[in-house]
Amino acid sequence: MKRLTEFEALADPSFSQAVIDWQRAHGRHALPWQNTRDAYRVWLSEIMLQQTQVAAVLGYYARFLERFPTVQALASAPSEDVMAHWSGLGYYTRARNLHACAKRVVEVYGGVFPSDPALLAELPGIGRSTAAAIAAFSSGVRAAILDGNVKRVFARVFGIDAYPGEKKTEDALWRRAEALLPAGEGIEAYTQGLMDLGATLCTRSSPDCARCPLQARCVAFATGRTAELPVRKPKKATPEKRAALVAVIDGGEVLLQQRPATGIWGGLCSLPEIDGHLAADVDAPDADAVAAFAALYGDVEEVEALLPLVHVFTHYKLHILPYRVGLVKRGALPDGCQWWKLSQIADAPLPAPVKKLLTELAVPKLF
Ligand code: ADE
Ligand code: SF4
Repeated sequence: MKRLTEFEALADPSFSQAVIDWQRAHGRHALPWQNTRDAYRVWLSEIMLQQTQVAAVLGYYARFLERFPTVQALASAPSEDVMAHWSGLGYYTRARNLHACAKRVVEVYGGVFPSDPALLAELPGIGRSTAAAIAAFSSGVRAAILDGNVKRVFARVFGIDAYPGEKKTEDALWRRAEALLPAGEGIEAYTQGLMDLGATLCTRSSPDCARCPLQARCVAFATGRTAELPVRKPKKATPEKRAALVAVIDGGEVLLQQRPATGIWGGLCSLPEIDGHLAADVDAPDADAVAAFAALYGDVEEVEALLPLVHVFTHYKLHILPYRVGLVKRGALPDGCQWWKLSQIADAPLPAPVKKLLTELAVPKLF
């Protein structure tokens, strides 16, 4: 029995044929950068379309071409002028790279864009997928694209159960993209068809599978998993931190301490914190350690560990380990500290979880 190479196993001429037939009948044909083989126009459109939708690009594309009709005109323009014509499109690194690329094409290639995708990909701002699109549209070169839209279509059609942004998965997607290229003519319609499918039918949140030419072969459609595919970027686990906070209480008042202007709770008051946020491998302080710490504020009578509480920040989860300390006698008040009546704790400039903790402490215990 003949063993297939991976490339042969992935190849399937009916895939590209389905995309090409659909593109010719239902794809987009009248976009201003279509129906031309002018590499300058194709390149400009592909850079503008990298992170921006067609509707937003149209006006910019027209104005840009009017002001910079050739790659020479763009290369010799002052950069402020280029930036001004990009202003509002966003992702301004694209505009700086665009200008640098135009200069290189004029200097190195005499103003003629190369048609080899490998050479195109060496120019500023042109990645592998954009290089392939430019080569296909301007020279009919057979080269594979793999932008975000195409990744989504492939992930769904082939039921790829891994995050496409991960190197290993992305490499596998590139091999698939290469293997699926049409063997003969039709690279332009195929390339445009993949883009059109991703942009108009196989959209992120509501794919129109009923009209899709790939429906019969689509794993996501067959298994009802269009909402789960492509697999989303795995979330990093939220880091957990701990803070030992000491409520020194005397005569119905609690000692508050001003926090530094920057960092969490910057500018607010809080309770004195033992040793800053505790490292993961450090035990919570015991009663003796708390008493030693609280000696800063007076002569300690008693220490009570209270129930921990959790506060969730955007970037981490904070476990608050609160302690109540009673005094026999107040000491000198350190800088940045003040006594605050527990009965008026609602008015204190405190972070919400600390205010909640002290509000509960202020309620007289009935049992
Ligand atoms: N997105 C990227 N390239 C495109 C193109 N040539 N037409 C429509 N949308 C695109
Ligand atoms: Fe996307 Fe639906 Fe087509 Fe599958 S059938 S490729 S999910 S539009």
